Amino acid sequence: MNDTAAAPQVFKGLVGVHADVTAVSKVMPETNSLTYRGYAVQDLAEQCRFEEVAYLLLNGELPNRRQLNAFEKEERANRKISKVLIRAIESFPRKTHPMDATRTAVSFLGLEDPEAQDVSEAATRRKAMRLYAKIPTAIAAIARLRKGLRPIQPKPELGFSENIFHMFFGKVPEPEIVKAFDVSMTLYAEHSFNASTFAARVVASTGADLHAAVTAGIAALKGPLHGGANEAVMHMLKEIGTPAKARGWIDDKLEHRALVMGFGHRVYRSGDSRVPTMSKWRDIVAGLRGGQKWIEISRILAEEMLAKKNIHPNLDFPAGPTYYLMGFDIPMFTPLFVASRITGWSAHVLEQIADNRLIRPLSHYVGVDQRPVPPIKAR
Ligand code: COA
Repeated sequence: MNDTAAAPQVFKGLVGVHADVTAVSKVMPETNSLTYRGYAVQDLAEQCRFEEVAYLLLNGELPNRRQLNAFEKEERANRKISKVLIRAIESFPRKTHPMDATRTAVSFLGLEDPEAQDVSEAATRRKAMRLYAKIPTAIAAIARLRKGLRPIQPKPELGFSENIFHMFFGKVPEPEIVKAFDVSMTLYAEHSFNASTFAARVVASTGADLHAAVTAGIAALKGPLHGGANEAVMHMLKEIGTPAKARGWIDDKLEHRALVMGFGHRVYRSGDSRVPTMSKWRDIVAGLRGGQKWIEISRILAEEMLAKKNIHPNLDFPAGPTYYLMGFDIPMFTPLFVASRITGWSAHVLEQIADNRLIRPLSHYVGVDQRPVPPIKAR
């Protein structure tokens, strides 16, 4: 072993490390608050449509009417995906997880992109717009093809969130349901240097293109400690099944020191700023779709986690059952997160390339000391 007397300080998991500056969003754990470009996320969620938030993240300011119209027009004009991509998705093995399919579809979109190899700021901005417009179409196609259903073409007359429902289900639900989904898109859009955003920035810092960076972001988002938690939450709620079983279930988990999905956060220690807004809309959706039992189970779990571990729920905790009650299949929850987070990832990649320095930290070696290579007969 190396001499550990002179060991440098290691920040495992990069806990507490500021890796760079950013002007995209600010997480304030002291006050449980989060701002995108200076605006409180809960105000954006309630007062703006997701298209406005996407514009804000990508351009730094909220759009005026004219800017919003032009932005929406461009998004709507770019929604279609190629027949070749649809055929590719169709050829994926049936058991493919939709997050793997999404990662592959985005990588495929890079192959088809007319400016794939152009890493200039202007081309990256145009590619960001195309990804923002096409990812919902790709994930809706994935959702339908895995069930043997034909994909549904996007409708340019529908807004971003309405169109997602149309492409998944062939119909647009009541405005409260669409608004709840739109709120989830806003809340999921951005969260500073989380694992997937950091992964995307690392790839962008090497000079690789946006599709490469976003593919890495999707790969990181899949994990259950990150975006995959929204799926894990719903599996957990279904496993518990009834409110009567909730307290016993969670006590048993805590006794065995198991992780309870949808709780805890690396940065927030006393509550996730996005949870009250998402919970409010989850409850509205549950009221319309008859999902009271999921709310009741959730209430018991949150109460026990706080009392026994002093750990609060994160955004995935209310988002999981909200998507479930809207009719989305559980394995599609994290791809829906991708449809939103593409805006944050793209904003960060643009920020990274505007003032780039290769991201390349050090590691402290703790393996065996240097030694001679023995001849094969001596091993
Ligand atoms: N369930 C049970 N215990 C939890 C927990 C959870 N969801 N989250 C944290 N803890 C416990 C840890 O086991 C640790 O206990 P210990 O000190 O007795 O070992 C303590 O709380 C501190 O947690 P820590 O390991 O410092 O958290 P972290 O910053 O490394 O991890 C998460 C943060 C998000 C990865 C973690 O909370 C987690 O795995 N949550 C569940 C997955 C999830 O919902 N992810 C979505 C995040 S938005």
